[in-house]
Amino acid sequence: MDEKNISRAVIRRLPRYYRYLGELLEEGVERISSNELSSKMHVTASQIRQDLNNFGGFGQQGYGYNVPYLYTEIGKILGLDHMHHMIIIGAGNLGQALANYVQFEKRGFMVVGIFDINPVLKGISIRGNEIRMMNELPEFLRTNDVQIAALTLPKSNAAETAKILVENGIKAIWNFAHLDLSVPEDVIVENVHLSESLMRLSYNLNRYVTEHKK
Ligand code: NAI
Repeated sequence: MDEKNISRAVIRRLPRYYRYLGELLEEGVERISSNELSSKMHVTASQIRQDLNNFGGFGQQGYGYNVPYLYTEIGKILGLDHMHHMIIIGAGNLGQALANYVQFEKRGFMVVGIFDINPVLKGISIRGNEIRMMNELPEFLRTNDVQIAALTLPKSNAAETAKILVENGIKAIWNFAHLDLSVPEDVIVENVHLSESLMRLSYNLNRYVTEHKK
């Protein structure tokens, strides 16, 4: 399978395919046509065919897509076929909410540590992980195999914390702080901005309201 030339737009759509296919699997669906998948996902059938053709051999004329196969292959592309260990830096509202979310584990993302600087939080257990203080972080990273760090701390402390993480070998940062991080080339940052999603919602709502006034 040649994944080298797949556009970022297609890669961005893969998690959605993965989610739908997972739901189909849970319903016991073994195969599905691009037309059926299209009406479920509200994406055109030709878009689906184009997207999935990137990976070659998933669909067969007159048969459709083999759901378990497609699910497994997309899972592999997304790196979901093995467990990732994740730590959370900043055990406030958002950090604790992430740590409490069971579904990440089901997708292969296991929270193995939660860190903060507030001594009041030290030792509080969140789904079996006791909140640790930041001075324990370097030693923790030396002795545990951690691939991902989620940053759920104030923007003002994000850059300094990212530096510590990178110095201690972290290669993937899931950044919730509203700050564009400068990291070395071999470190991957995925920014999450719920407020941007809300702004898109607001834009679409405004557009809808305006169009229906006409
Ligand atoms: P919060 O105030 O409840 O929690 C922040 C936690 O970070 C506190 O427990 C604090 O002690 C800790 N902290 C501060 N400096 C630290 C450091 N250097 N090392 C480790 N821990 C440190 O805040 P909340 O609501 O959980 O938000 C956290 C961050 O996430 C904020 O930057 C907020 O703007 C951002 N946020 C981003 C969203 C997004 O969609 N990207 C959505 C909601 C919040």
